[in-house]
Amino acid sequence: MEYKQRTVTCGQLRKSDEGKHVVLNGWVHRDRNHGGIHFINLRDRYGITQVVVGESADQSVRGIADRLHVEYCIAVEGIVHARPDSMVNPDMPTGEVEVEVTGLQILSSCEPVPFMIDDESDAKEDTRLRYRYLDLRSGGMQRRIKLRHDFVRAIREFLSDRDFYEIETPTLMRSTPEGARDFLVPSRLYPGKFYALPQSPQLLKQILMVSGFDKYFQIARCYRDEDARGDRQLEFTQLDMEMSFVKRDDVLEIMEELFGYVFKKVMDVELPAKFTRLSWYDAMNTYGVDKPDLRYDLPLVDVDDIARSSSFGTFKTVLESGGCVKAIKAPSSEGVAYSRKYITALEEAAKIYGAKGLAWMKVGAGNSLEGGVSKFFDGLQSKLLDRMGAQEGDMILFVADQWKKTCNSLGAVRIKLAKDLGLIDPKAFAFCWIIDFPLFEYNEERGHWEAAHHMFSMPQSQYLDTLESDPGSVKGDLYDLVLNGYEVASGSIRIHDVELQKRIFRICNIPDEQAEERFGFLLNAFRYGPPPHGGIAPGIDRMVMIMAGETSIKEVIAFPKNTAAVSPMDESPSYVDQNQLDDLHLIIKQPKKAE
Ligand code: AMO
Ligand code: AMP
Repeated sequence: MEYKQRTVTCGQLRKSDEGKHVVLNGWVHRDRNHGGIHFINLRDRYGITQVVVGESADQSVRGIADRLHVEYCIAVEGIVHARPDSMVNPDMPTGEVEVEVTGLQILSSCEPVPFMIDDESDAKEDTRLRYRYLDLRSGGMQRRIKLRHDFVRAIREFLSDRDFYEIETPTLMRSTPEGARDFLVPSRLYPGKFYALPQSPQLLKQILMVSGFDKYFQIARCYRDEDARGDRQLEFTQLDMEMSFVKRDDVLEIMEELFGYVFKKVMDVELPAKFTRLSWYDAMNTYGVDKPDLRYDLPLVDVDDIARSSSFGTFKTVLESGGCVKAIKAPSSEGVAYSRKYITALEEAAKIYGAKGLAWMKVGAGNSLEGGVSKFFDGLQSKLLDRMGAQEGDMILFVADQWKKTCNSLGAVRIKLAKDLGLIDPKAFAFCWIIDFPLFEYNEERGHWEAAHHMFSMPQSQYLDTLESDPGSVKGDLYDLVLNGYEVASGSIRIHDVELQKRIFRICNIPDEQAEERFGFLLNAFRYGPPPHGGIAPGIDRMVMIMAGETSIKEVIAFPKNTAAVSPMDESPSYVDQNQLDDLHLIIKQPKKAE
């Protein structure tokens, strides 16, 4: 098809272009017809320009204009005019001009759209995903996809300038589960054998270190067959990194520099040169989670001693059985009344994490303690107020239970309070490192220890003699990067010694024989002069989601799956032909359900 190609984009024209003869290509965003005059907002990736088909336009041009509907793709030829002062639109970068149309061509028509293309769509998520090609035309999606591009580009710049190589690793490899379930790909050539899609390039990047590549990164796709949630997808992207001859602080420092550079470049946001560091224990104890949102404070406070002196039986029983009592201050708020109903809502948040209740008291006039469990705290008023830094109008909330349950439950109350009281600055970026994680977690269901992160992380040296005798107290050379309450990156200094690696496998219930079978290639590589090494992997989707001020990673992924693990656009997963199954030597066990 012959058509007029654009000479300018829809975001480009300014008053200084007055009088120019231009061609624009784009989509009909809106078409207002005022008594035979069409005011068309023409849109492309770069912006929106108003084009006008006036009374003086050629009859054929007016005829075409009358046939236009939203989202038709068109070519417009015309002359740039300054708008009269009264018509200037200060909200549009092109708002000072309009284009008087002299030629008009329909490049393609568009069926009635399932939703209007706006800055942000209010259509249902599945409708947006089914018609993702339309949804991606919205200003919001276009901005977020650009942000993602800018982010990745800045990362590549920074790391390339610091001698990192970008190296691709296979997406078809041996199954080496890292904690989640693997996606498997049946081999046609080897009946009964499978490739796996990597959950991350973890082992391959370690092997690249054995090969001497020293500083590696990759914008890597990772695949995990787990439930898709707000900040999780079945396939996602990591900035995967590994370095040789580094210690923990080297990794943390390069990440601080990297994010400092990227945030300045992409968002013009100045980050602190150093990020707060918290030990895993302090994060749990003070904020109730291992990924605390530090945009606000609201710490959890230990009140064991005060609770012990009180006459509240529940607290005393918990303390006697080795538990603890913690409290949080809900500051007085103009927006939220601390009613029974609200306290019940807070209690529900605590109960999700296993708390048996949420005890409370209010600080009334003259700093007297009122209501709830206050009657059990006679004589303890000033000590408690002091400890909590509480004053008139505040409320104090308590959970008593085993330490972890207490932290988690009151941590959930902390998050709810911050949201409800409006304590969160939506523009802030609060990074923090969580260090000194436990290396192992006990899996009650399976009845054995497991790696808390993955099995390749180095135990801190002071625990090397007690790995087997007391796995629960071993701390690892592990670190997470947390941003605004999300875990955005995880990494560790790695084991590079075959014997130590095998000890870890054994503690995780993987005997030597099985370790050789599953991880033999890594162990073999470690027999050939492996360097000390370590690395980290920030999740690109999560980072961009937070930078964009979103709460779902689907908003920053061009073609995501929905929460049911389905892509409504191409309707995957889908059945395949019998001959494809035959080629792969597969028999489906479950009979297909009638559709
Ligand atoms: P980990 O499994 O902690 O570590 O993942 C690192 C980061 O990847 C992101 N992430 C996800 N993003 C979206 N959807 C998911 N399902 C998902 N799972 C993880 C998170 C997380 O912090 N090999 C190690 C890294 C290392 O040790 O170097 C690893 O993959 O932001
Ligand atoms: P009860 O004595 O069971 O009537 O509880 C009195 C108050 O203490 C209620 O507000 C309960 O929610 C709260 N409560 C009960 N058990 C606990 C607990 N383990 N920790 C904190 N508060 C609790």
